[in-house]
Amino acid sequence: MKKNIAVCPGSFDPVTVGHTDVISRACSLFDEVVVLVSQNSGKCALFTSDERVKMLEQSLKDYDNVRVESFDGLLADYTKKIGAAVIVKGLRAMSDFEYEFQMALTNKRLNPATETVFLTTKAENMYLSSSMVKQVASMGGDISPFVPPVILKTVTERIKKSVETRKEEKK
Ligand code: PNS
Repeated sequence: MKKNIAVCPGSFDPVTVGHTDVISRACSLFDEVVVLVSQNSGKCALFTSDERVKMLEQSLKDYDNVRVESFDGLLADYTKKIGAAVIVKGLRAMSDFEYEFQMALTNKRLNPATETVFLTTKAENMYLSSSMVKQVASMGGDISPFVPPVILKTVTERIKKSVETRKEEKK
């Protein structure tokens, strides 16, 4: 029987517990889940693509039907290449909706064989974003409720280092 492959794309800069919640639910809905670290042309990433892949792999090590990849091109080309049935995205608030709707329609136009499915986030993650995590950590706040425990040290130290580098550059 043909396996249903789902792709969970995102910037994951860094992965949050909001992301892992949506991915874990995708793992129980689909046979195979590919978490895809992709480039968002509207955002400037702090972590390299390799760092983001590694943090996702560490955070998702308990799921046996998931793998993490990175891809530089169009998401629609990737889903076509691997024959994915579905793109899974988490939807937080109405503020996400217009942007996500636009992306879903564009991806459908570019690759009609793949459907976009939205999973609503848990209420407690409604406000959570990678940008918020970076902002809290850069001001010395505790990000332990927001990122998977296994990557907490890496994320905290890396953000601290980038704040120090910026301060040095300003001198
Ligand atoms: O986590 P994000 O930043 O909301 O994820 C957005 C992402 C990376 C999934 C989106 O920007 C994307 O699909 N980028 C790959 C390039 C692409 O296909 N762009 C056209 C999307 S309609």
